[in-house]
Amino acid sequence: MRMSVIGCGYLGAVHAAAMASIGHDVVGIDVDERKIAALASGAAPFFEPRLPELLAEGLGSGRLRFSSQMADAEGAQVHFVAVGTPQVAGGHAADLRFVEAAVDGLRPHLRPGDVVAGKSTVPVGTAARLAARVIDTGATLVWNPEFLREGWAVHDTLAPDRLVVGAEQDADGGRAVAVLRDAYAQAIDAGTPFLVTDLATAELVKGAANAFLATKISFINAMAEIAEASGADVALLADALGYDTRIGRRYLGAGIGFGGGCLPKDIRSFAARADELGRGEAVGFLREVDAINLRRRERAVRLVVDALGGLVFGRRIAVLGAAFKPFSDDIRDSPALDVAVRLRGLGADVVVTDPAAIDNASAAHPQLGYARDRDEALRDADAIVVVTEWDEYRRDLSPEHAGALVRGRVVVDGRSCLDAAAWRAAGWQYHGLGRR
Ligand code: UDX
Repeated sequence: MRMSVIGCGYLGAVHAAAMASIGHDVVGIDVDERKIAALASGAAPFFEPRLPELLAEGLGSGRLRFSSQMADAEGAQVHFVAVGTPQVAGGHAADLRFVEAAVDGLRPHLRPGDVVAGKSTVPVGTAARLAARVIDTGATLVWNPEFLREGWAVHDTLAPDRLVVGAEQDADGGRAVAVLRDAYAQAIDAGTPFLVTDLATAELVKGAANAFLATKISFINAMAEIAEASGADVALLADALGYDTRIGRRYLGAGIGFGGGCLPKDIRSFAARADELGRGEAVGFLREVDAINLRRRERAVRLVVDALGGLVFGRRIAVLGAAFKPFSDDIRDSPALDVAVRLRGLGADVVVTDPAAIDNASAAHPQLGYARDRDEALRDADAIVVVTEWDEYRRDLSPEHAGALVRGRVVVDGRSCLDAAAWRAAGWQYHGLGRR
C-alpha cells in the first residue's frame, strides 16, 4: 500500500520505517530539511534501537523515501499525521499548530478515497474538527493513536498491544477503517486486537492510557514517601503489590519519576482539556500525580545533600544518566538531568555521563560537566547518583570497580535499580529513594 507519514520525529520516522519493513511503499515528509537529509542518507536523527537497520533496509529496497515536499504525499492511499503536540508556552494545553499545519498542508494533495490517519496525541475533540477540514477533498479522516514507547518504538509499532481506529460511523468511515485494517494486516493476523471506535473515544484512549501510567508511577512514588517516613522499603512493597495480578508489577518502578516528551505534557493537556469541557474535577488527581512526580526530583537532591553531610558545594558528584529513561537519547523533561542541574545550582562539581544522551544534554545544559566515559565520570567523585537505569550502571557496574575509582563511597540510587546489599557489602553508603 502507498503511504505517506507527515512528521518524521520519534513517532513518524519509526512509523515510516516500520511500515516499509512490512512491505508498504512509504514516503516520510517533514519540514525540517536537515532531518530529512539525515533520514534519506540512512542516519537516524535520534537514538532508537533497530531504527538504523530498518532505515537501511527500506532505503535499499526503494520502499522508503523521505522528502520535505508535501506534494510527495500525492498518490498515497493513507496519510499518517505524526507531528508533535508540545505543551503551549505559558500554559498546560497542547499546542495544535503543527497538527493543523500538517492537515492544511496535506489538503491540496488529497484525492477522493484517501485516508488521513491522525496518530499525534491530541485533546479529545480535535479529530472531529480536523475531519471537517478535509471533507470537501473526498478524503476521510480517522484517528489511530500511537502507544509506542521510546527505546521500544520499532517493536511497539510492528507488534503493538492493540490497534485503535476511531472513525465516523458512516460509509466513508467504514471504508477508511477497512483501509487501515489492510495496512495493519500483518499485526492483525498475528493476533493484535483491532478496536474500532468513534473519533472521540480513540483520542481519549491515548490520553487515558498515559494518565493511567503516570498515575501508577506516582502512586508508587507516593508510597515511597510513606516508606521513607515509616522505615519501610518501597521496592519490596512494589514486588509484593505486583504479584497481585489485578495490580501488576510494571510501572511500579519507584524513583525520581517520569519525564520525557509524552507523559508530563500529556497529563497536563488532558487536565486542561477536561477543564475546558467543564469536567476538571474528574481528573483533579492528575495535578497531584504531577506534584508527586516533581517532588521526587527534589527528594533525590536532598538525599545527596544529606549523604554528603549537608553541603554539596565544591563536592564532585558523578551523575550516571541524562536521558529520561534507558535506551533513549531523549532529554525532554528528563528527571535525571533535572537532578544534575539542581545539584549544580547548589554549587556541586557535577559530571554527567550517559551512553546516548551526552550531545543532547550538553547542548541544553552547557553549565554541567560531562564525561563520555563512565569511569572517567566516576574518578575522584565524592558521591555517585544513578538517575537513569542503563544496563551500564544497573547491571555492569560492580561496587568494587566503582569503589576503586571514587574518592567517597557514597551512592544515591535514584531508580531503585542497584543491589543495595551488594553495594553496602563493598563498603558503600547506599541511599535509595523510598529504600531502607
Ligand atoms: C510513554 C508511554 O509508555 C507510551 O505508551 C506513550 O505512547 C508515550 O509515553 P515513553 O515516554 O517512551 O512512553 O516512556 P515510558 O517508558 O512510558 O516511561 C516514561 C517515564 O516514566 C520515564 O521517565 C521512566 O523512567 C518513568 N518510569 C516508567 C518510572 O519512573 N517508573 C516506572 O515504573 C516506569
